Amino acid sequence: MPFIHLPKPWQLPESAVTPEAAFWNRRKFLKTLVGAGIGASVLPLGACGRSGDVDPALRKTLGRPLGGVTPNPDFQDAGRPITKQVHASRYNNFYEFGGTKNIWQNAQKLPTDPWTLEVSGLVKNPRQYDLDDLTKHFPLEERIYRFRCVEAWAMVVPWVGFPMRSLIEDVEPTSAAKFVRFTSFYDPQITPGPAWEFALNLPWPYVEGLTLAEMANELAFFAVGLYGRTLPKQHGAPIRMVVPWKYGFKGAKSIVKIEFLAEQPATYWNVISPNEYGFEANVNPEVPHPRWSQATERIVGSGTNPFNWERQPTLIYNGYGEYVADLYS
Ligand code: MTE
Repeated sequence: MPFIHLPKPWQLPESAVTPEAAFWNRRKFLKTLVGAGIGASVLPLGACGRSGDVDPALRKTLGRPLGGVTPNPDFQDAGRPITKQVHASRYNNFYEFGGTKNIWQNAQKLPTDPWTLEVSGLVKNPRQYDLDDLTKHFPLEERIYRFRCVEAWAMVVPWVGFPMRSLIEDVEPTSAAKFVRFTSFYDPQITPGPAWEFALNLPWPYVEGLTLAEMANELAFFAVGLYGRTLPKQHGAPIRMVVPWKYGFKGAKSIVKIEFLAEQPATYWNVISPNEYGFEANVNPEVPHPRWSQATERIVGSGTNPFNWERQPTLIYNGYGEYVADLYS
């Protein structure tokens, strides 16, 4: 990707952007700092107050502050205000812990320490990363990304983590590797899935996949934190995928295994309902889900209840076409 600063699609027209003075000022401040070479490793991200007020019950679920995080200047502007954490961390999907919006509480049963992430398959250096490696082995950066669920709700999340490319460089895939499979934690005693009757035969564990070219794209990211702290369990602690040009279901949570493969892997939602959830799953306003339109999206937390959240137009590739469109030409 050439290093050219073009306006992002969401910066045109200006009138479509929700103004929020604090957000924009902070962005300018960060750009100045990073431009001057000062940003690296010193910003007390969690102390910036961007997570907004959180109540005591939610606070108990939050992770520990992460130090040594560099804000990536290219991804500080998502064209919308950051979603308050009180909304983002209570409006989750994590079907291993049920099918309601109480997941943020149910997911606290997830055991995350110790943790092993195994990387294997068609690679020169198979690896096992432990919990400590996940926050110390790769330099951590903050990226503020738009996030679009296939259910047509959207947020803006300040992730902390590292580019998937860094892991690719660590394990060195062989020339035979063309796809990558990501597998989430599964233990039927701990992650029983939703209580619905049809859920008895769901194809656990949750598995997602990317092409190797998608994984190597500049945007593809592993999050180990958000809002300046380690990931809360409801968001997929201790490590989850973030692929912001795709629907949110492509972002497998609580990953235990990554395998480099020659063939396209079967993936969880695609196995359950292939005509509703494709393998590629790029955000596209013109391709409706068979049961609803994708032309607009509801902005999480923008109204008093989900029924009156503000609607905004969906952007092709969620606004990230400049980075990814050539993957699909
Ligand atoms: N990963 C696992 N293991 N299980 C899931 O049910 N849900 C997906 C994705 N990753 C899911 C998952 C869906 S549908 C969405 S929209 C996002 O997680 C939601 O991420 P969030 O709760 O952190 O916002």
